[in-house]
Amino acid sequence: MTDQAALAPFTTLLDMELGTLDPQREVTERRLDDLRGMFLEEPEAGDSLVYRVYAIPAPATGANLLCSTTVLEPGTAGREYYMTKGHFHQVRDRAEVYLGLAGEGRLVMATEDGRHAVEPIRRGTVSYVPGGWAHRSVNVGREPLVFFAAYVGDAGHDYGTVERTGFPVLIVAGDDGPEVVANPRYRR
Ligand SMILES: [Fe+2]
Repeated sequence: MTDQAALAPFTTLLDMELGTLDPQREVTERRLDDLRGMFLEEPEAGDSLVYRVYAIPAPATGANLLCSTTVLEPGTAGREYYMTKGHFHQVRDRAEVYLGLAGEGRLVMATEDGRHAVEPIRRGTVSYVPGGWAHRSVNVGREPLVFFAAYVGDAGHDYGTVERTGFPVLIVAGDDGPEVVANPRYRR
């Protein structure tokens, strides 16, 4: 789908609990092996599924909106909860909206100059990720975390910057639930 003129209106059925789409179009899977180097304590090498992204394809242009649902499994690597890789948008000023559908999570955001924000994700939360903020979601619950996201079509994904710098904070399992702690490996 690259020709704007050829794009006709269409509808996708979203299972609000499971996050699956019908028809299912593009599915991306991330396993522990794909997250190597992102957890403070390296998990045992393995092919355990961490998350799936179900995308609704549209032309990747500034005139379009790209949408997807993410299903992030519960679990921990060391004390850190399972999380997505996280990214800046390649075009830095492009924004994104997250709609929480199921489970309990955190949306961790950071700017390149080191500011950070942590917002809740649960059924009904609508989180606004302004341009310039890297974003990562974290499942702090016992059930899959499910959310829907929509972003400007030409945003692109810059995973490399986050791989180099990390996020300023980590979400770890504490004695009384999730805790936000400084990331000792963070460097701007
Ligand atoms: Fe994004």
